[in-house]
Amino acid sequence: TDPYGDDIEAVLITQDQIQTRIRELADSAAARYADIEDDLVLIGVLKGAVMFMTDFARALPIPSQMEFMAVSSYGSATSSSGVVRILKDLDRDIADRDVLIVEDIIDSGLTLSWLMRNLATRSPRSLQVCTLLRKPEAVRSPVDVADVGFDIPNEFVVGYGLDYAERYRDLPYIGRLHASVYSD
Ligand code: PRP
Ligand code: MN
Ligand code: MG
Repeated sequence: TDPYGDDIEAVLITQDQIQTRIRELADSAAARYADIEDDLVLIGVLKGAVMFMTDFARALPIPSQMEFMAVSSYGSATSSSGVVRILKDLDRDIADRDVLIVEDIIDSGLTLSWLMRNLATRSPRSLQVCTLLRKPEAVRSPVDVADVGFDIPNEFVVGYGLDYAERYRDLPYIGRLHASVYSD
């Protein structure tokens, strides 16, 4: 019942493992925000964070509001340059709000480093990051992260929001692609 046939070489993180870890991440976040007055503002980074954002929000035992940003990094498809352009900005002001950026993956860290600096200029009450995945070996710009779901090796992974050429985001697990998919 895999929609992509044999494209996935191995499942690295199962649907169950993702969902179990999300409940832990949500509980951890809720504990940090136990005393806030307004609702927590979640900022999801399109498109990769969509699956994590929606599952995380539903697992959070405190009220949250959803915002989305879309950014694009200049540079090639496989390596980002650190220069980021906003394609879709927030709809709302985040001044004096508690803000949690929800990301699918920190690879080089360049996207999030830029985004953290950008959002910090808008005077949120607090600004933190929760990422489902992180590749410690790939980091070029370290990001201070409140919670990480899984540290993974420096391999190209897809699924649960993560794409290769816009495909595979719809898989409910994280997997590694067969090399043949790249060389076709
Ligand atoms: C991917 C991923 C992160 C970012 C991580 O997004 O979803 O947002 O790259 O890379 P970095 O740490 O090296 O900056 P991408 O730009 O592919 O857009 P997408 O979310 O729409 O797939
Ligand atoms: Mn992304
Ligand atoms: Mg992508």
